[in-house]
Amino acid sequence: MAKRIDVESLNVYYSDFLAVQDASIKIAPLTVTAFIGPSGCGKSTFLRTLNRMHEVIPGGRVDGKVMLDGEDLYGPGVDPVNVRRTVGMVFQKANPFPTMSIYDNVIAGYKIAGTRKGRNELDDIVERSLRGANLWEEVKHRLNRPGAGLSGGQQQRLCIARAIAVEPQVLLMDEPCSALDPISTLAIEDLISELKTRYTIVIVTHNMQQAARVSDRTAFFNLAGVGQPGRLVEYDETTKIFSNPSEKATEDYISGRFG
Ligand SMILES: Nc1ncnc2c1ncn2[C@@H]1O[C@H](COP(=O)(O)OP(=O)(O)OP(=O)(O)O)[C@@H](O)[C@H]1O
Ligand SMILES: [Mg+2]
Repeated sequence: MAKRIDVESLNVYYSDFLAVQDASIKIAPLTVTAFIGPSGCGKSTFLRTLNRMHEVIPGGRVDGKVMLDGEDLYGPGVDPVNVRRTVGMVFQKANPFPTMSIYDNVIAGYKIAGTRKGRNELDDIVERSLRGANLWEEVKHRLNRPGAGLSGGQQQRLCIARAIAVEPQVLLMDEPCSALDPISTLAIEDLISELKTRYTIVIVTHNMQQAARVSDRTAFFNLAGVGQPGRLVEYDETTKIFSNPSEKATEDYISGRFG
């Protein structure tokens, strides 16, 4: 089941540097939320706190709460490995394991976790995940060829297949289309709209049209100045953000005016 995300008063640090200050957001299940804002305002940093990938970075820590269906991800006894299985992530640059076959890339999450499964079950997982990522028809005859032999757009869909293979409930995507041509970008956007029927999705994008096309709600992050923490300035229905935002900073950003 897709999960709801509630972040309450989150501060995100790299050692002593406060990168994101006092962010609160409520994300409903089975919706797409877009994070937008200028470079360095903390979009990627904040995204990584939603599956505890931030603390993997030396000095990375948070205070505040991130709740998944009401359960604090940072609570005592919560296993971060479990969190990352429930909240999957797709990165800006497609990062399939290059020498690993397409097949093995899809099931990499099970191999890393040491989960033993029979061949038939794995075959099913591979087909279901590749179908889910809209890649099955293109690769079903070459599952044993290396992941690196796919186009950029196909590699990104392979990474999405790998992320959904372990049946997460939330999918985080950090600029998943920034390295893709317009056709592959539209393919990923169509896919996001399909995946929304099963997952709660959060996507970081610099592409305003993309945010407007794929998301239900948009969060605008901004930076008061160099060295200042990023802040979540406005969060609302995407149609509202792009037609009639409440904050002047949001309006300036979406209309391309800065400073
Ligand atoms: N590993 C790190 N160690 C220290 N500071 C970091 C680290 N990663 C990011 N930062 C700092 O945190 C702030 C937010 O960075 P972040 O990458 O989250 O921004 P962003 O909004 O994703 O930018 P972009 O749009 O360019 O991807 C920046 O000041 C950045 O320099
Ligand atoms: Mg970023």
